[in-house]
Parts: sequence; C-alpha cells; structure tokens
Amino acid sequence: MEILNNRESLKSYINAQKEQGKSIGFAPTMGALHSGHLSLYEHARKDNDIVISSIFVNPTQFNNPEDLEKYPRTIDKDINLLKKHGFVDAVYIPTINDIYPNGAQSKQYDFGGLESEMEGKFRPGHFDGVGTVVEELLRQVQPNRAYFGEKDFQQLAIIKKLIEITGLPVEIYGIPIVREENGLALSSRNQRLSPERREEAKLIYETLTKANEDFKAGKNPSEIRRAVAQTFDNIKDYTLEYISIADEETLREAHEFLPSKSYRAFIVVVVDGVRLIDNLHLK
Ligand code: PAF
Repeated sequence: MEILNNRESLKSYINAQKEQGKSIGFAPTMGALHSGHLSLYEHARKDNDIVISSIFVNPTQFNNPEDLEKYPRTIDKDINLLKKHGFVDAVYIPTINDIYPNGAQSKQYDFGGLESEMEGKFRPGHFDGVGTVVEELLRQVQPNRAYFGEKDFQQLAIIKKLIEITGLPVEIYGIPIVREENGLALSSRNQRLSPERREEAKLIYETLTKANEDFKAGKNPSEIRRAVAQTFDNIKDYTLEYISIADEETLREAHEFLPSKSYRAFIVVVVDGVRLIDNLHLK
C-alpha cells in the first residue's frame, strides 16, 4: 500500500493511474478506522481498479473546539489496519496546507435547504466545512466513484447535492450502516465510550427499531417522536439532542405519512459527552 503524505506525491500517483486508464474508487475518512470504513473499501474494491482512502481530521467541520480536540487520532493503527485488510491501494494523508493553502476556512454553499435541517440546526457551519473538504479532496484525487456511509445520511445527501452544484465528474455511493453486535452504529466516536456505556448505548438502535414498529402500527410522526423522547426522558447521562421523523429526500420533518414518499428516523443522543448519531429507514 502506498502512503501519500502530501499533495505532490498524490498527484504523481494519480497521474500514473490515469495514464494506465485505471478507474479510481475513493473513500475519504477522518481516521480512527473501523469496520464501517472497511465496508466502504470493500464496495469500492468491487467497482474500481484502484482504491484510495484519505485520512484527514478536517478542522472546518467542527463547530465545537472540544469535539475537534477529542476526536480520536490513531494514524499508526489505521495504517496497520489498512495494510492488513488489503483493500486499499493508497492512503492520502494530507497536511493542513495541502487542503487549505490559504488558511483553514470554509467556502459557503447553498445546498437547497438540506443544510438547515437536523445537524444544520445543531452544528452551525458544519456542512460548509464538509462541503469544502470533500470538494477539495475530490478535485485532488479525481475518483470515478466515491463512497460514504449512510450513518451520516444528511452528509451523504449534501455531498450528492455538492456534485450537482460543482458538476464534478464523480458518482456518489451511499453504503449501509455497519453495526456492533448489539445494534450500536459503528463510529470512530464509540472509542470514547467505556465498555459498559458502549453496551448500554444499544438503546439508541432499539429506540429506532421501536419507532419503526410504531410506523408499521400506523402511528403518526408526532406520536413516534413523542415516544422516542419519553424513552430518553429519565435516563441519567443520556441527552436526546434530536429525534426527527423526516422525508428521506428533502430531510424535512414529516407531519403526516404520504404513501408516495419514503421516511427515515434520525436521532442524536449525547452519552457521557459523546455525540452519537444514527438513523433508520422506516418500512
Ligand atoms: O464522514 C467523515 O468522516 C467526514 O465528514 C468526511 C466525509 C471524511 C469529511 O471530512
């Protein structure tokens, strides 16, 4: 596996692949890799000649300095995992200057309202930061296809919109959430939970599953939201940041269920100061 530590080495690597007519699959990450990331690489491996990943903790997408500071950084472990797994041909680990030569600042985008829902309300500026880094990485890596996890479903929708806005020639793929055995969605942030908390946090997925049962039983969106809120009402050290029962396309809060539309439950719970995000398609 090639380790590309700066923009120049990436450039020569990409040029060599393009000259040979190789197709490139790309999965950007912020490191602290887990099986959710490996699943992105496995999909990329099937569709492309070459798989590239990047590891870059992007400062502009963190609206909370403490969250940025505490974000796990495990670069040696990540490289070993990538080597062992063997699905990635090259990993790009840019410096801050490679991505932000003029200083770490976000561009401003109009994502057609997608950016104002859910995460947009709780993490101001977050999606401008994500858009800026993803646009820059796609311009540098020039992949044919790029892969993102459905755990960050709103991010995935925003990135599809980014491609529409910029006209970048890349296909975007959303890959299903990978879960721990107990149902907790895999996340780099889970590393910050104690083993006991990690076990208890299965409650988040159980609550989403219950929301789906309520959907099937014909309950309306506000009844479902209320039931979820009640679940977390009296649990010490758990704070429900939001539960949204939303239209899967617009991500707007649903007030009734229409048969022509698809819906998804979105949740964020803060457990012992760790922000955990999850979602489930309602069917
Ligand atoms: O999902 C992530 O890990 C990040 O938001 C991404 C897409 C790598 C951009 O920094």
